[in-house]
Amino acid sequence: MISFDRKNETFYLHTKNVTYAMGLCDGNKLLHRYWGKRLKNPLKKIDLMDFPFRSFAAMDLSNTSSDVVPFEYSAFGTDLRVPSVEFTFSDGTMVAQLTYQSHEITEGKPKLKGLPATYCEEGDAVQTLRIHLADTLQNIEVVLSYSVFEAWDAITRSVEIINHGERMVLDAVMSATVDFYGSPERELIHLDGAWARERFLTKQPIVHGNQGIDSRYGCSSAFHNPFIALCDKNTTENYGNVYAFNLVYSGNFKAGVERNAYGCDRAYIGIHPTDFRFVLEKGDSFQAPEAVLVYSATGLGEMSRIFHRLYRTRLCRGKYRDIERFALINNWEATYFDFNEDKIVEIAEKARQIGIDTMVLDDGWFSSRLSDKNGLGDWYENRDRLPNGLEGLSKRIHEKGMRFGLWFEPEMVNPGTELFRKHPDWVLQVNGRKPALSRNQFTLDLSREDVCDYIIETVGGILSRVPIEYVKWDMNRTMSEPGSMFWNELRQGEVMHRYMLGLYRVLETLTQRFPDVLFEGCAGGGARFDPGLLYYVPQIWTSDDTDAVERLKIQYGTSMVYPFSTMGAHVSAVPNHQLHRRTSFEMRCYVAVMGQFGFELDLNQCTDEELATAKKTIETYRKYGAVFHRGDCYRLKSPFEDNLFAAEFISEDQDTVILIVACSQPTPNAPDTFIRFRGLDETAVYQLEGSDQRFYGDHLVNIGWHFLNNQESQSLLLIFHKI
Ligand code: GLA
Repeated sequence: MISFDRKNETFYLHTKNVTYAMGLCDGNKLLHRYWGKRLKNPLKKIDLMDFPFRSFAAMDLSNTSSDVVPFEYSAFGTDLRVPSVEFTFSDGTMVAQLTYQSHEITEGKPKLKGLPATYCEEGDAVQTLRIHLADTLQNIEVVLSYSVFEAWDAITRSVEIINHGERMVLDAVMSATVDFYGSPERELIHLDGAWARERFLTKQPIVHGNQGIDSRYGCSSAFHNPFIALCDKNTTENYGNVYAFNLVYSGNFKAGVERNAYGCDRAYIGIHPTDFRFVLEKGDSFQAPEAVLVYSATGLGEMSRIFHRLYRTRLCRGKYRDIERFALINNWEATYFDFNEDKIVEIAEKARQIGIDTMVLDDGWFSSRLSDKNGLGDWYENRDRLPNGLEGLSKRIHEKGMRFGLWFEPEMVNPGTELFRKHPDWVLQVNGRKPALSRNQFTLDLSREDVCDYIIETVGGILSRVPIEYVKWDMNRTMSEPGSMFWNELRQGEVMHRYMLGLYRVLETLTQRFPDVLFEGCAGGGARFDPGLLYYVPQIWTSDDTDAVERLKIQYGTSMVYPFSTMGAHVSAVPNHQLHRRTSFEMRCYVAVMGQFGFELDLNQCTDEELATAKKTIETYRKYGAVFHRGDCYRLKSPFEDNLFAAEFISEDQDTVILIVACSQPTPNAPDTFIRFRGLDETAVYQLEGSDQRFYGDHLVNIGWHFLNNQESQSLLLIFHKI
């Protein structure tokens, strides 16, 4: 919990296992003191001699080079390292110095205005500390908020800038900066990728200078995820100190670490400053997005479990947060743009026969959308394909006892549409320049209120008119020419952040207005898989790559931060449409069943044996989906290190344990592999479902399960019950 030691002027943020501490120096400078394993005893008052900086020791803070001072939150000009915040004031100067003014500690956690964030519920032990800093010369107030999720072991941070002075420009604002000392062998971990190769786990040594990741693509992107972790060299799943940062934001971001000459690292994460310039008039304030900070003393596995528990219970919201969701069939890879009502009904009928409950109609159902060249923006049925409209199709699907889902890409417009002809100024663009097309489409300017209202009315109108239980909300291009025809010359630097605020308002309005609809996020696969979006949609299409072998890496990497309950995962046809690889039907099922399970192929083309496997896996999903989605996940074998993926899921009540193993590449005469379990009750006995075999917990943990990796597509799904 949060406390302030008045005598020693030290703030403590304690969770179950973690302490984060800050202290005042000279009564008004807020310095970072500690982040790590929970401290049992108080720190003494800051003594400059304690800090390991040569030039700094024995001096006072007004007579030292500030590249060594561990400021908790510092401004450009008075801190020589990557500053937390940068301004340009009305007098043209850019220098600010932030000093402590006051603080308050409150129960609970206030909402962030217009932005997604973790939240607390009644009865949660969550407290918030707000520290007010100020630059007294320019009359700027900076409010640092820290919320402590004690039981979850997580701390969240956010920053609000309030201008009490003359008009000024906010040039950069990090949501968190944290200084680290004394471990030069630290490494940086992040999740890199590309389309169809999202969130691959990447580790690199931290070297002198500035290094990091970012997105200027208009979305959090497939290329980098707004997540970094600093960790001990040789950190593994179960070993090592890990300090992780994740930004609750879906737009442009920057995250990284700067190592100075003395081996001190400053980590930072926040909105990307490059195309950000926010004008604050007197009295205006700016709320920066939230950063979630997770520390694990025992490696990456525990870091992930902390993120998973927090996100699935205190970030995701709505009716579907705690219940098992749909087993669906999506027609995209089965038909692409080539379908009509009867074809969709035929696919649905076969799906119904094996227990699938939801038919999702993907791209191509509207106006002139015969390919990806046209139609986006004109959201009315194509009557050649759907002669009875969406109502007619929805009715036929519902008559089968199934739910009906629909694809939208509401943030986009194709140039040949009525919408574009009517509103050419609704597209992100810079006056006088032709905006670039990507996938033949322009991005609508969601920084505009009228555009957002149009999207709410259009999508909301369809959801009110047609019985629809599921929406796939897609977004298929990166955003260039980030300018707006609506905002004046002062405000062009605000467009990309205002876009995100607009998108969040649209999603908030629609998800609140249609609480029974399950919304799934998507962005050319998984290019907007971030905690910002998860506040509105409890699941996201993980990747357009449905190849089971590639999915092992994509899902493994994604699970570093995001729970399996948030990952859309489908079984598709072979040869796989992205890689032309063949994998067994069983492996495709086992890889997909961990996530939000579905199929994306024409089941009429499957053999009876494949259909039987599909049916059986759907039954497993119905029975044990909660183990994958609300249990704890232990990653046992990494496809980034080995030819094997193995993960274990333990139910909330600890009674059911599921092991999934899949081989990404077989080895002839493979060396024996034993998959060692974790997190089991070692004194208990576990019964393997479907057999009379029983195992002691300590045997599974210490000896493990023998797996022979000698055949293509070798895979296992084993369910154990504690007896
Ligand atoms: C994106 C999505 C796919 C599919 C297509 C339709 O690529 O990720 O799943 O919906 O758009 O155009």
